[in-house]
Amino acid sequence: MDLFRIQGPVKLTGTVKVNGSKNASLPIIAATLLAPGKSIIKGTPRLSDIEVCCQLLESLGCKITKGDQGELNIDSANIDNPVGDYEIVRKMRASIAILGPLLARCRKAKVSMPGGCAIGDRPVDIHIRGLRKLGAQIHLENGYIVAEAPDGLTANSIFLGGPFGSTVLGTANIMMAATLAKGKTIIESAACEPEVTDLANCLNKMGAKITGIGSPRLVIEGVEQLNPVEYQIIPDRIEAGTFMVAAAITSGELTLENCKVNDMMAVVDVLRNIGVSVESKGDAAVVAGNGQLKTADLTTQPYPGFPTDLQAQFMALLSMSKGNSIITEKIFPDRFMHVAELNRMAANLRKEGPTVIVAGVDKLIAAPVMASDLRASAALVIAALAAEGTTIINRVYHIDRGYEKIEDRLNPLGANIIREKT
Ligand code: EPU
Repeated sequence: MDLFRIQGPVKLTGTVKVNGSKNASLPIIAATLLAPGKSIIKGTPRLSDIEVCCQLLESLGCKITKGDQGELNIDSANIDNPVGDYEIVRKMRASIAILGPLLARCRKAKVSMPGGCAIGDRPVDIHIRGLRKLGAQIHLENGYIVAEAPDGLTANSIFLGGPFGSTVLGTANIMMAATLAKGKTIIESAACEPEVTDLANCLNKMGAKITGIGSPRLVIEGVEQLNPVEYQIIPDRIEAGTFMVAAAITSGELTLENCKVNDMMAVVDVLRNIGVSVESKGDAAVVAGNGQLKTADLTTQPYPGFPTDLQAQFMALLSMSKGNSIITEKIFPDRFMHVAELNRMAANLRKEGPTVIVAGVDKLIAAPVMASDLRASAALVIAALAAEGTTIINRVYHIDRGYEKIEDRLNPLGANIIREKT
């Protein structure tokens, strides 16, 4: 298991290119199952989650080769085993995204029920409800979701909202399944995240007929078949936001290339309000901190609201602001594993239910800390860049799930991060 030794404080300056989006790549890779043949997905990030996703498709019968710059050549001509095995699914919850495509293509699928994780229980009841509405018979058997639709799926009107709003992968699953269903499916309360839009655009390029893309009402006219595709993944708005926070907390200045600021308005709004300059220049963004951070009250919400995947990083940032900030988590109310770890670094955070009161401190101080989940770990890296002394972050495999060699990206910008084997 690797650890990070991070010396701070530093000031980050320079240019970094944002990678392709992890959370767009995963369902799009799964979507290639819908069209027998050779698809080319370009610009996927080199991450352990993408690796797991490829292993999963290979276990179903796909053949995958990797080209340069994150290109995946996926041959899904033969699916001889429509079973998402527990041993792979348990490594990555997003594996559930194969359920809809497998069921639509093979008329049956068996996928291990994903477990909970550090950010909460994470049920898949809405996915199952949606697929049942499309006519699938579904039951649970020894920890597996067993779904069947011997005569194919049939379109329906489906409300996909849940107790915490829309569901990203739930929308992806039902949308993918509906592309091959007989008739016109309407999804109400669909997730509007840019990653869902990217998937819908990819599906349309494969021959699907989806309208209302980017809105909470998707209309999907079922087609007989989809065709293999060549598709370029959008930039990762969460990675971009993480770099923006890193620039802000170190009072640095970073130019982010391949950055879609328009997909990040809620994030940019908070940054500007607390005194961080964000300028959009074509497909780049220039972000500069001036060392004087104001407070913010932010609440995570489905897109276009503030993303839960940047909540932890902003907590690290606001812990150095002048005064009290309030952060409320409305997507995953238990996603606060980073609170105790940031407090070990001399932050002053107090959790009250799904809200954290962040009392700004003048400085953070290095400490040994534990990475718990992907975004919480990114928050610890960010705090460590600004903290005085050497922070040791254990279990960095969590970071590797969502950030490609983060030390190789940040060190050329002025960070001092050493990866060590333990
Ligand atoms: N929910 C249900 N029932 C369901 C599905 C979801 O109650 O059947 C609840 C969840 O428990 C949560 C809320 O609905 O409270 C929203 O969850 P959602 O389904 O949207 O999450 P997801 O699709 O499983 C994706 C991202 C997450 C990101 C969330 C929210 C991928 C691979 N994962 O998860 O990304 O936090 O949307 O935006 O796209 C990450 O990258 O670190 C990450 C966790």
